[in-house]
This record gives sequence, C-alpha cells and structure tokens, in this order.
Amino acid sequence: MAKVFAPGVIKLFGEHAVVYGKPAIAVTINRGVYVECERGDKLVVETVGASASLRYFPEERRIEAFGSERFFSYVDAALRVAEERWGALKAKFAIRSDLPPSIGAATSAAVSVGVLKAYSRCVGVDVGGEELAKLGHRVELEVQGIASPMDTAAVSLGGLLKIWASPFRVERIDASLPPFYIAVLPRRGTTGEIVAEVKALLGRRRSTAGVVEAIGSLVEEAHACLVGGDLECLGELMYVNNWLLGALGVVEGRVVSLLEMVRPFIYGGKISGAGRGGAVVLLPRDEELVERVLAALGHTYYKVSVTQSGVSAL
Ligand code: PMV
Repeated sequence: MAKVFAPGVIKLFGEHAVVYGKPAIAVTINRGVYVECERGDKLVVETVGASASLRYFPEERRIEAFGSERFFSYVDAALRVAEERWGALKAKFAIRSDLPPSIGAATSAAVSVGVLKAYSRCVGVDVGGEELAKLGHRVELEVQGIASPMDTAAVSLGGLLKIWASPFRVERIDASLPPFYIAVLPRRGTTGEIVAEVKALLGRRRSTAGVVEAIGSLVEEAHACLVGGDLECLGELMYVNNWLLGALGVVEGRVVSLLEMVRPFIYGGKISGAGRGGAVVLLPRDEELVERVLAALGHTYYKVSVTQSGVSAL
C-alpha cells in the first residue's frame, strides 16, 4: 500500500497580482489531503468529506451522490494523466482531506498532486517534485480550462516559495514562520469567476493598474521582512495587502469585521486566494486570545504550521 500526504497551501502575499506578472508568496501547511493507493482487481476511489448530498432509492437500495462532481473531476483527470504517464493501474484509492474544499487553501491542487504521487508509488515509480508540479498543473488545466501553476507547484515542492506564474518560476525563501491561524468564512463565487471580475475591473478603470503595481512592490518588501524574521512588518504588510485586494473588490465586510475583532491579538491578517470569503490568514500575537475570539464568533478555524516538504510518501 502507498500512502501520501499532499499539503494545503496558503497564499501569504500577491494573489491576483500574480495573474498580471507579479510574484506571489505561498507556503505549504501541515493540513491537506491524504491519499492511499492499494493495488486490486479494479479501479475504485473512496473518499470521506467531499461535499455532496445524497439521494436514496429504498426500493432499489441504491444511493446517488450530487455535488461531488467537481471533486471527482480532479480525481478523474489526475488518474487519466497518471495512466498516460505511467501506464494502467487497477487499485483502490482512498482520499481524505483535513481542510474544507474551495476556501483558497489549494485543496484541489492537493487532490490532483496527491493522486498523481500515490499512483506513481503504487506502480513503483519515484517521481520528483518538478515533474509532479507540471503534471498537476496539466490536471488543473484540464478541469478548469485556465489555472495558474502556483498551487500545484507549491503542493509539489513544499516550503515557503516565491512564485511567478508566467513565465513560470519558483524561488525558495529561506525563512521560518511561527504557527498561524486560518479562519474559514463562507465563500461567494469560484476562483474563475472572481479572477474574471478583477480582470473586467482592470479593463474598465485604468487607475486600478496602480493597485496591481503596489501589490507587486509589497511582495518584494514582504520577502525582505520574511528573511529578516520581522513579524511586525509581515503583519502590517498583510493588512496593506488585504486593503489593496479590497480595492480590487475581493474582500468582503465579513472579512474586515473579523480582522477588526482580532486586531489587538494579531500582527496582521488577510484573505488567502481569490477572496470573497474563504480562508483568512491571521498571524497571532496571542494565540489563546485569537482562539477565544474565533470560537466566540463561531468560525471554523485551524491552527497550522509551515511545512518544508511538498507532497510526500508517509
Ligand atoms: O482561491 P484560490 O486558492 O483558487 O487562489 C486563487 C489565486 C489567484 O491569484 C487569485 C488566481 C491565480 O490563478 O493565481
């Protein structure tokens, strides 16, 4: 049996601007997707926690699941790409995630890369992070039509990374970060829709190009603060990045109120990913008080640590 862990990814700085040629800074965390693969006589995929509603037909003792199509489209595409690359395989795959889907924590990339890695282990091939990043990106492109290589690269390579989307380039940042929190808010719209709306805004209002430029230079400053281990600076730049994303229309009132409530207890915070809710990253000054506020507000939240390795065998 092969077992792998594919980490989730938090975008610390630079999302959206990364679509327009600026670098972004992303980091892998110790929550993500677990994939097991055991050879057998047919191909089966089992999962728990993929969001789905069930319809039961008692007379036929048959169950249908709805809403899980999106999840399985990544699994399907990953299995297809894997078969093309490493040949056919009959096996049982079991997939489990300890992060909710569609919050901006790269769970779809983790499913894609996790299935690819587990498949390769099951057929006895050792595949490197660079190749997985490429194959994982192909999976996301097949499913979404358009996809940045940021998430699949981060899941495959792991650690704290500075990433340019086009032309694609990754640079490892040698710095450590303390554990931080992710609060989860309901998200409105898909990444594709939100990215398209930002593009439309940039096309309509010339002055918003300055926001993208500002995010680009903020990423450079944040890089220096990370290397210097300066949490005050990082926190302040997280706030600034969040307001700049707000200017692009992707930060909602709910995120702003949450950040106001926890403000005394954090260095800073911001959305992670496309926005309109989803994951909000909080860099804590006082962990206990952050947890108390999040619990009192009734938000789902996770304390996470940075990991150094990308998808790996367990
Ligand atoms: O919300 P997510 O995890 O899908 O991240 C989107 C990140 C963007 O920069 C907004 C888009 C992209 O393709 O890089």
